[in-house]
Amino acid sequence: MDVKDAVLQRRSVRSYKNKDVKLEVLGEILDIARYAASSGNLQNWKFIIVTDDKVKEEIATVCLEQMWMTEAPAYIVICNQFKKVTETFGKLGKMYSIQNCANVATTIMLLAKEYGLDTCWIGGFNNDSIQRILKIPEDVDPEIILTIGYENDVKVSEPVREELKTLVFFEKWGKKEAKIKGGFFNKLKKILKK
Ligand SMILES: Cc1cc2nc3c(=O)[nH]c(=O)nc-3n(C[C@H](O)[C@H](O)[C@H](O)COP(=O)(O)O)c2cc1C
Repeated sequence: MDVKDAVLQRRSVRSYKNKDVKLEVLGEILDIARYAASSGNLQNWKFIIVTDDKVKEEIATVCLEQMWMTEAPAYIVICNQFKKVTETFGKLGKMYSIQNCANVATTIMLLAKEYGLDTCWIGGFNNDSIQRILKIPEDVDPEIILTIGYENDVKVSEPVREELKTLVFFEKWGKKEAKIKGGFFNKLKKILKK
């Protein structure tokens, strides 16, 4: 699968087959994902892989009771060692540390597609509870939880996205015309038609 297909085919999947994900596969995905970019190359992430049914249920409960999560055979909890980044970048560090974790999360989600797996990004959770359940130290934030597994045969709705022409300006905020003439806004349509 090329990157374009992975980006276009990824959907948030909230129903999974009762099929384990091999540890080797999770290992391979994370081994590649750690090449994601990070500010100052600080790589302020740690990954906790959760497969235990009881722990998965406890976590789903403190994720605003998103109990569908328990269908996923594994969770990847991305933990943010923000101090590494604030020590280097001061005030901007906290924001960078979160961006770094978001970047590695996206990389994991796209790699998952390559391995025939699907994911869902979970941001709705109680930090303190996740910290307690997973024994995460105080100076580390649980930042993102990804569910990962094989998609159940439930139809996931088509993605709704804003049109490119409403998203892009040229040269400065608000300017809709490009300096150079060309078919800028036709490109994505062509990709989708492929
Ligand atoms: C920061 C962030 C937090 C999210 N939190 C949740 C969540 O708690 N539960 C959930 O089911 N989906 C969550 N999502 C997934 C979004 O709902 C989903 O990406 C969006 O609806 C677009 O759908 P798609 O991922 O299928 O393209 C989150 C996504 C992001 C980026």
